[in-house]
Amino acid sequence: MKLWGGRFTKETDDLVFNFNESLSFDRKLYKQDITGSIAHAKMLGKQGIISDDEAKQIVKGLEGILNDLNSGALEFDNSEDIHSFVEATLTERIGDAGKKLHTGRSRNDQVALDMKMYTKEEMLELKTLIKTLLASILKVMEENTETIMPGFTHLQKAQPITLAHHFGAYFEMFKRDYSRLNCALNRIDQCPLGSGALAGTTYPLDREFVAKELGFKEPTLNSMDSVSDRDYLIEFLSDLSIIMMHLSRFCEEICIWNSNEYRFVNIDDSYSTGSSIMPQKKNPDIAELIRGKTGRVYGALMSLLTTMKSLTLAYNKDMQEDKELAFDAIDTVKGCVVLFTGMIDTMTFNKDNMENSTKMGFTNATDAADYLVNKGVPFRDAHGIVGELVLFCEKNNKSLDDMTLDEYKAISDVFEEDIFDAISLETCVNKRLTLGAPSPESMQRVIAIYKEFLK
Ligand code: ARG
Repeated sequence: MKLWGGRFTKETDDLVFNFNESLSFDRKLYKQDITGSIAHAKMLGKQGIISDDEAKQIVKGLEGILNDLNSGALEFDNSEDIHSFVEATLTERIGDAGKKLHTGRSRNDQVALDMKMYTKEEMLELKTLIKTLLASILKVMEENTETIMPGFTHLQKAQPITLAHHFGAYFEMFKRDYSRLNCALNRIDQCPLGSGALAGTTYPLDREFVAKELGFKEPTLNSMDSVSDRDYLIEFLSDLSIIMMHLSRFCEEICIWNSNEYRFVNIDDSYSTGSSIMPQKKNPDIAELIRGKTGRVYGALMSLLTTMKSLTLAYNKDMQEDKELAFDAIDTVKGCVVLFTGMIDTMTFNKDNMENSTKMGFTNATDAADYLVNKGVPFRDAHGIVGELVLFCEKNNKSLDDMTLDEYKAISDVFEEDIFDAISLETCVNKRLTLGAPSPESMQRVIAIYKEFLK
């Protein structure tokens, strides 16, 4: 049933109906729509705008519809949108009282409420998923404060770090993502219902009551803004995009670590896929797909930013375009976080390969230069001397650790027997004691802070 039609003399063209309708996707909001309507009806009764009896009938009717939609006993029809469907079904079930539900309300503040409630719930759910991911990352960190691996810049081996340190970088990123959601939740906490179509209403609504009833901190303060604000959704999509950016970086590294050349990690069989033609293949499809899905989440953000650009106040139908892409982006990110967590939980690490790779990459060259500086050589000269050592090693297919003392002395007689201890990978890592650095001692301090955060 249509909610309008009185002033029309012709039926809607079928193409127009199909172009305009939103029930095919805003049905996802049925719980929020009904919960909002129940709060509105209770308030109308409390304020004497409708009778207590009518309010009770409406609430009971709406609860029945919610149950039947949950159980599948009630199916969606060809109504224009979720709001029309619920109101029509209510009136069908309880008669005239149903026709009073929409008193003092517009679909504009109704849809604003539905989307806000939905977004808020999804933010809370995502927070829980990110906490689980953080716990998985922390577990790897705790088990690997002494697992040495190369740290990279420009994807070239740079200095020795540990696996705990590398994972710790991602802990920081996802911790910031978590706190971004907290900030967004703080800003979303105002209830738009009671704003009417754009200019409020003449009925004596109790907006504070409805806001409380629906778990909001307070009502919104400008009815025009209330029905045309989608900032919170743009903000959420931007938070989601940042989460995907972080996931995509981690996934890219896992793909590299899993490659035949690196072999730093083994992705579990249950999180890998094979090839239809090449029997030997075990592909990191999940990491690749998460990396790939980043595009559609960015797309949703760009799309909504563009839809909202230049929109005049207050409600415009353009805003119906906020839903499909946002729903898809939100479901995509939740799926990616869950899958990524599972992949990390089941992944194993080839610690020997990591250590050998660190050794063969001259990652201790900076420490060799620091050794010379400590013996009084100016840093720029030390840099040049170690450059010569590296050249010698490359020519002779050696690492700095494999050189003999005579070979060292041939390049600079400042070197003594203690050079070997000074450039051992363990020393290189253990001496990096600044807060935030990879030494096991520094990492333990940080891990204690993270544990406290996750409590
Ligand atoms: N389906 C619409 C949306 O998603 C609901 C609000 C419709 N309001 C209106 N005046 N046509 O935005």
